[in-house]
Amino acid sequence: MKSVYKKYNSFFGIRIKNKYDLKIFLVNLKSVLNDKKNSLRVKKNYLKILDFVKRDLFESGTKGRPRFTLSPNVIKEIQSIDKKDIPSYLVHRYRYEIYPQMRISDDFPPYLQIEPTSICNYRCVFCYQTDNKFNKRSNGFMGHMKLDTFKLLIDQAEGNIEFISLASRGEPLLCPDIKEMLAYTREKFLNLKINTNASLLNERISHSILESGVKTLVFSADAADTNLYSKLRVNGKLERILKNIKRFKEIQKKNYSDTKIITRVSGVKVNNQQNLNEMEKYWGELVDQVAFVNYVPWENVYESKKTAIQTPCSDLWRRMFVWWDGKANPCDVDYKSKLSVGYTKNNNISNLWQSSSYRKLREQHIKKLRRNVSPCNRCVVV
Ligand SMILES: C[S@@+](CC[C@H](N)C(=O)[O-])C[C@H]1O[C@@H](n2cnc3c(N)ncnc32)[C@H](O)[C@@H]1O
Ligand code: SF4
Repeated sequence: MKSVYKKYNSFFGIRIKNKYDLKIFLVNLKSVLNDKKNSLRVKKNYLKILDFVKRDLFESGTKGRPRFTLSPNVIKEIQSIDKKDIPSYLVHRYRYEIYPQMRISDDFPPYLQIEPTSICNYRCVFCYQTDNKFNKRSNGFMGHMKLDTFKLLIDQAEGNIEFISLASRGEPLLCPDIKEMLAYTREKFLNLKINTNASLLNERISHSILESGVKTLVFSADAADTNLYSKLRVNGKLERILKNIKRFKEIQKKNYSDTKIITRVSGVKVNNQQNLNEMEKYWGELVDQVAFVNYVPWENVYESKKTAIQTPCSDLWRRMFVWWDGKANPCDVDYKSKLSVGYTKNNNISNLWQSSSYRKLREQHIKKLRRNVSPCNRCVVV
């Protein structure tokens, strides 16, 4: 499988429904940002960032700082939230995009990924779930997050971290408490995302998702053809997830037409048989966006060849991961947590993010010494 040196989760290609007029969008955005009452929700210490955002979007930027821009999928996110939340959303989007470029970290990670479970019912060929040392229950990597652990994390994140993802190493819908977890996120975050293989997306869970705080729902599917799908998503059946996603769409239309949720079918681009036009034809009617993300060769990272990459990894300033057992990790390419910075049960998110071990790791990357750190020396993410 061909790999790329790219930002993790970057799009290989994306198709977005309902085009917008950029000029009109920017005029409206400017008036929202200039209305002082809308910035009341931005924390005082972030008001400076709001100035940078305005200068970058409507003037010539700020000397000495990278320029903040809006991609089409981010514009869609902005269009899906309340006007009063837009300044705050942009501040946190700025932290997400610009902090990694400037190597800035403040009290909280811009983005938190919480894993409801590390267990998966699939064995996708490009995923670390194929590593038998990882997926073997007796090796200790597998488990479901307890509801108390989840609530503690959400309580700490609320008001501090606005971008949350409920997925990392496993299939989130397998977690026995997923419905209660989803309910607990309601009205707490500006962008809550969940990635699922959609195999367990039944009627009850569809309602739970639509009633929760989920703003972006990603159905992971890599093909528009039955055989190719099963070849890549081992244990999966295309017909089953098609049926589930159709039912989700019907429930959404019938009962939650006012709920603003962005749906996306997203595949990992691993070979030439996968085609975005075909994906759009197959899935386009059912979801708002159809995309491929770049393949990251993480499924055998500990055994793969060392790379010569010296560029620091952007994730060290962008996101933190918390596994089902409360273990905090700087990334999920390191799916066996060699780089773990501690447990959230002994320490809070903010302390872990600013801990000496996290700082040391960032320093090693800045000093172009990631070659001395495993698995950073075998990883292609920059
Ligand atoms: C690890 S999965 C966990 C959530 C869920 N099981 C699913 O498949 O959506 C999270 C996301 O990572 C993507 N992914 C898996 N392996 C990947 C790889 N090698 N490179 C890039 N993305 C990958 C999946 O397609 C999915 O969207
Ligand atoms: S990509 Fe998702 S569905 Fe596929 S094996 Fe990995 S965790 Fe499971």
